Amino acid sequence: MATAGKVIKCKAAVAWALNKPLVIEEIEVAPPQANEVRIKIVTTGVCHTDLYHLFEGVNKDDFPIVLGHEGAGIVESVGPGVTEFQPGDKVIPLPFPQCGKCRFCKSPKTNQCADAWNTDSMKSSEDSRFTCKGKKVLQFFGTSTFSQYTVMNQMAVAKIDPAAPLDKVFLLGCGICTGYGAAVNTAKVEPGSTCAVFGLGAVGLAAVMGCKAAGAKRIIAVDIKPEKFVKAKVFGATDFVNPKDHNKPISEVLTDMTNGGVDYSLECIGNVEVMRSALESCVKGWGVAVIVGFTNKDDFAARPFQLIAGRTWKGSLLGGYKMKTGVPEMVKAYLNGKIKLDEFITHNMTLAQINDAIQLLEHGKCIRTALSVSPP
Ligand code: APR
Ligand code: ZN
Repeated sequence: MATAGKVIKCKAAVAWALNKPLVIEEIEVAPPQANEVRIKIVTTGVCHTDLYHLFEGVNKDDFPIVLGHEGAGIVESVGPGVTEFQPGDKVIPLPFPQCGKCRFCKSPKTNQCADAWNTDSMKSSEDSRFTCKGKKVLQFFGTSTFSQYTVMNQMAVAKIDPAAPLDKVFLLGCGICTGYGAAVNTAKVEPGSTCAVFGLGAVGLAAVMGCKAAGAKRIIAVDIKPEKFVKAKVFGATDFVNPKDHNKPISEVLTDMTNGGVDYSLECIGNVEVMRSALESCVKGWGVAVIVGFTNKDDFAARPFQLIAGRTWKGSLLGGYKMKTGVPEMVKAYLNGKIKLDEFITHNMTLAQINDAIQLLEHGKCIRTALSVSPP
């Protein structure tokens, strides 16, 4: 490619400060260094973790930054030592790497690669290839998909089927794998079982889809917004409960509906009260509650007897997928008609409209918006 080895000037949505709208700027993206690939981002989504960084932040010094971590694109050029990727490859940037060498990557039990940047502190990579107006711009989660070009370490890039439509499979970079994998990998939902999914955003709907794929007989979808129920049915929900329609705790409602509690529950909101309710909605003896929704602000509580009585409480990050190998398999599952993706996309916009897309997600007005970043 004519651009290989050169600095690329392109558009990106830059977050200059906490709680301020993003600004579309011209930025410079330096060529990839050893073990890095430079990627042209074709489509990106907006996810809650982007909003979390922008609105709540962890550190006001984590700016300016290019946010975005749920995207898909095409390799533009590769740095020294990269043998796995070539210009033109379709790829999904991963917010979580898979080095393949560490204790965690070698264990089949987890996706917690030792090289996982940012996850403990949510801090951003200072060693980015971005500059804007003479200032270094940080990279978010090692990805930064709100830019027409980004440079990533190859251990956090998944090569996908060349037939994959990037404006759909971008969803597999975060939210959909998170919910689906929580059901199939973490809860390990069994055929014939009864499940409850709390929260019907993209993550919860993907969890519903995972429960259905695993053969659950009954999938109870729980949300305080009744309009979310229509979509949940599309993904396989059989029952709907709005906690606001009942004057007793939701765990009691579910326990009554299921003759003692559900086999599996998945919390897809990030609310510690609901996490407790989801645990208490599980049947004693074998019920499994999985925490999927993200929060790092609060502690949670429960009565120990809930666990002593045989329930299990687990957490799931990115659906438990080792993403470099797991995401291409999910892309294949989509191409083979085994999972739905199109139904998650409620809005299509361009990168220039990113602040509108952020508002939609913040106010619960979309499931996912597909933002066109560069022409494919
Ligand atoms: N009880 C039931 N449903 C609730 C409640 C509650 N107390 N509070 C919120 N909800 C519902 C909302 O109405 C919404 O439909 O939870 C849903 C959350 O959906 P989104 O905001 O679209 O979030 P989503 O993108 O699905 O992510 C959910 O998973 O990975 C994490 O960071 C992510 O914490 C976030 C969570
Ligand atoms: Zn590793």
